[in-house]
This record gives sequence, structure tokens and C-alpha cells, in this order.
Amino acid sequence: MFEIETHGLEKKFGNFTAVNAIDLEVKKGEIFGFLGPNGAGKTTTIKMLTTLATPTSGTAKIAGFDVATQPAKVRSRIGVVPQTFSLFEELSPMENLWYIGKLNEIPEKEIESKSIELLKAVTLYDKRDLPSGGFSGGMKQRLSLAASLLHEPNILFMDEPTTGLDPQSRIAMRDITRDLNRKGVTIIYTTHDMDEAEKLCDRIAIMDHGNIIAIGTADELKRKVSKHEIAEIDAPDASKETVDALRKLPFIHSVEKDGSRLVCEVSDGSEMFSKLSDFFKKRQQQVNEIRIRKLSLEDVFIKLTKKDLRE
Ligand SMILES: Nc1ncnc2c1ncn2[C@@H]1O[C@H](COP(=O)(O)OP(=O)(O)O)[C@@H](O)[C@H]1O
Ligand SMILES: [Mg+2]
Repeated sequence: MFEIETHGLEKKFGNFTAVNAIDLEVKKGEIFGFLGPNGAGKTTTIKMLTTLATPTSGTAKIAGFDVATQPAKVRSRIGVVPQTFSLFEELSPMENLWYIGKLNEIPEKEIESKSIELLKAVTLYDKRDLPSGGFSGGMKQRLSLAASLLHEPNILFMDEPTTGLDPQSRIAMRDITRDLNRKGVTIIYTTHDMDEAEKLCDRIAIMDHGNIIAIGTADELKRKVSKHEIAEIDAPDASKETVDALRKLPFIHSVEKDGSRLVCEVSDGSEMFSKLSDFFKKRQQQVNEIRIRKLSLEDVFIKLTKKDLRE
């Protein structure tokens, strides 16, 4: 059985479709990512899956329970780290967790021991008695994470938990997320950061304009859009004629301009570097750098969304 299963899950606001009939299956023990730009529909999807918003159509089951007809059962199994969270700024981490524990009707003697364990796990134990209002964004987000885990959920929803954090805090948040997952928690994680999705998630659903446009592991998504490698050529003065001639080379499959760089899909092959530098040398066009690299998720996203627009 799947931990999460949706059929035609849809959310409309008036005539506007924020989430367009998505079908989804998330396996137990996965770190499953929703990757997409602002406005793609990630938060609206998370809200429906966590019973905070009512679908306008379709169904969703979480741990076997229906979000529409069994919301209390669903809520007992899930933890939520919302995109915008609220904690009591004048209260310390221990006090915040105490309050949330009482709200969740956790026995008092368990709240304290569980709070200590969780604050150690999110590296806030040293700060357990300080007012949380003065904490950094990363510390507040880790406290929000601890709060979401107090009732020991099997499934954790994290909505852009690293957005706006400094690099150290982002790395810490991802490490804690991996640890939780190793302990058996299924994780649903949204991000607009393609690199982060690739680093963290077992499988990724790419979302755009309310649609899931592709689902798979990062490798599967890449193979789906191209079997080629990428050459990034920094050629600030490349003329239109040069770009057109480049396009016609047999080992070049596509060329996109990105500022001063030409981003090309190229056949695999060790001589690619010298073939490209010879080409520009013959045409007496300046090249600052040629970099051959594997396809990134960003390339995948750009290719898929362009296709989306044409259809
Ligand atoms: N309560 C609402 N009323 C009207 N439109 C909304 C509401 N919530 C979200 N939207 C719209 O739905 C789209 C998806 O939003 P959201 O799910 O927040 O995207 P994401 O989390 O991927 O940035 C956006 O265009 C947003 O403006
Ligand atoms: Mg959002």
C-alpha cells in the first residue's frame, strides 16, 4: 500500500486552477519532493494532503485514510512544517513544545522527555530556555520541525523548509531531514531549489502551473528529456552567423542563449572540447570558457516547461 495516493486531486479558486487533477503515489520510507517555481501549486497541494484545504475535486488518501472523510485519522499520522509557521516568540523552545504537546493531548510526562530528545535532534538543546523570538530563521525553522514531530508522526510534510535560510542552516535542515527518514519517517518535501531536490529526494514531482509535468528519480527525469551532455560556452561576442553555424554541426543537438553563454546539447565524446574550441578559433570568435557537464535538473525543467508552452 502507498503512504500517499491521490486521484484527480484538484483545487480551484474561482475559475483559477491552482492544482490540476494530480495523480500521485508515494511509497512508505521515501523522501518525495515537489519541485517547482513560486505559484506552481506546491503549498496548495500540501494543504490538501494535510487536511488544511478542501479539494474541489478528486481524492487523497494518507496512510490509508481519506483526507475528506477521515481528517482526524489523517492528522494523527502526519506532521507538518508549514511554509509560514507561527511560534510564540516570547516563549522558549521548551515552553513552545509544552504548549503544542498540550494542544495535541500528549501526556504531560511524555511532553518533557520527548521535547528534550527532539531539541537535541534539531540542535537547539543548548537554547532550550531562551525566548525563541530572538532566534535566527534557521533556528526557528528547526523549532518548527521539532514541534511537528512531538506526536511521533509516520509522515512528515515540509513546505520549503530551507527557503530564505543561510547555506549552513540549509545543510543542517537537510541533514536532520535525512536522519528522520533513516528512522523510518516518510517525507514530503517542497522546494524551488533544483539542486536541493536532487541532493535530498528519492523521487521528484516537477510541478508547473498546477500540473505535475514529470515524476521520477533525478536520473530518470534526466534520461527522459535527453541522452546528451551539455556544453556551456562562454562566448560573449558570438555573432548570429556563428550561432547558426554551431546549430548545424553534426554533434550539436540544440543551442540556447543564456546571457553571454551558449548552452548546447552535445553528443557524448571526448573530443567535444577540442572540436568546439577549433570551431570558434576558425571563426575568430572569442571564447572565455568551455565546460562540458552532465544534464542538471534545471536543464530538465527548462526543456519540460518549454514543451509545455508549445503544446
Ligand atoms: N487562497 C487562495 N486564493 C486564491 N488563489 C490562491 C490561494 N492560494 C493560492 N492561490 C494561488 O494558487 C497558485 C498556487 O499557489 P501555491 O500553492 O501557494 O504555489 P507554490 O507553493 O508552489 O508557490 C498561485 O497562483 C496562488 O496565487
Ligand atoms: Mg508555497
